[in-house]
Amino acid sequence: MIPYRCASSLTLADLEALDRDDPSGTWRDAFMLPDGVVYLDGTSLGALPRETPGRLQEVAARQWGQGLIRGWTAHDWIGAPQRVGDKIARLIGAGQGEVVVSDSTSVNLFKLLVAACRLRPGRPVILSEPGNFPNDLYVAQGLQGPSDGRIELRLAPADRIEAAIDERVAVVLLTHVHYKSAAVHDMARITARAHRQGALTLWDLSHSAGAVPVDLNAAQADFAVGCGYKYLNGGPGAPAYLFVARRHQAAAVSPIAGWLGHARPFDFVDCYAPAPGVGRFLAGSHPILGITALEIGVDLVLQADPQRLFDKSRALSELFVALVESRCDSQGLELASPREPQARGSHVALRHAQAYAVMQALIARGVIGDFRTPDLMRFGFAPLYNRHADIWHAVETLRDVLHTAAWDRSEFKQRQAVT
Ligand SMILES: Cc1ncc(COP(=O)(O)O)c(C=O)c1O
Repeated sequence: MIPYRCASSLTLADLEALDRDDPSGTWRDAFMLPDGVVYLDGTSLGALPRETPGRLQEVAARQWGQGLIRGWTAHDWIGAPQRVGDKIARLIGAGQGEVVVSDSTSVNLFKLLVAACRLRPGRPVILSEPGNFPNDLYVAQGLQGPSDGRIELRLAPADRIEAAIDERVAVVLLTHVHYKSAAVHDMARITARAHRQGALTLWDLSHSAGAVPVDLNAAQADFAVGCGYKYLNGGPGAPAYLFVARRHQAAAVSPIAGWLGHARPFDFVDCYAPAPGVGRFLAGSHPILGITALEIGVDLVLQADPQRLFDKSRALSELFVALVESRCDSQGLELASPREPQARGSHVALRHAQAYAVMQALIARGVIGDFRTPDLMRFGFAPLYNRHADIWHAVETLRDVLHTAAWDRSEFKQRQAVT
């Protein structure tokens, strides 16, 4: 490995040589990435696997078009949430039968927060941190109404979260890798503290799965959710997944008592009886085309050897930080992610007073990251398809955009609906 802290002497040729020797380099060919684009936004929407369009066409035309309703059994559509859930389980340290693919992350959060609160009656608090992904805070706040004001959201800063876990806390809700800063929470330590206080934990793994190591069961985590469209490359709006630790599966109940979470949906009885395992957290019919695309993305991560990918993700983000620090000095940039690689997930945030316009100028030059208000540029490193040379091109483009003030144009300052 190149000592990135001596990045000032690195050349593009050094990095191209690294890419040639990189055992995970071969996986880039498994993706359809446009020429001339350096894609550093896998933290928002992963790239398109080459296999996906053809497979979707096949499932639509043959399985659906020809098989019609028979597809539910002939192609095991009915078992898809569990089958793909078991594959995701291998990426997040869960056991078989502890993960299902279903709904969106938001809906899964709702289901699991309600289930967790019911397991801790008499404890009214969901504890999270200010600045957590707002969606997760909104979903927690949304429980106030249905609980007639009984359940409340309490926020404590990350460095005081453990001290804030008291006998009123039912569940600690945290995003494992922070969506802006990429700071990583110590899942095992926080979970241990929660358990000592009689509380449960619910982890949002959206920015973790497929990019950084996660070991839910080693950490004794209780519940987890995560997105399918980021590092799992399941496509825009891909279905999400949820994890319920086996020890909770008999007692935890979904607030959405849907028929596909029923023990015997095709008995069509009037009374709801939850399925015995994690499948009770399914609700309605699942999106077969969406799960088909997600399964391809998950299979790619599994085939590529997750541990090797995690190492590469760390190497790429370290390289990025080192190159920015050595080549973009005094350009008004500030590192808004932890400096130590082990304290960081697979993206890096840079603060700049003109972050939005700078990111638009980068995108116009084919370097795609994203912007998070008020002043952050986010660069995500997807170890399956990002190369060391991509990092070089991204940093050189950033340097030039800043040096020439190429961002200072009105069209780069107009905020779009999605940033
Ligand atoms: C940390 C985190 N949680 C949840 C979500 C929302 O997921 P969904 O759109 O599947 O509800 C996102 C989306 O970016 C996210 O970053």
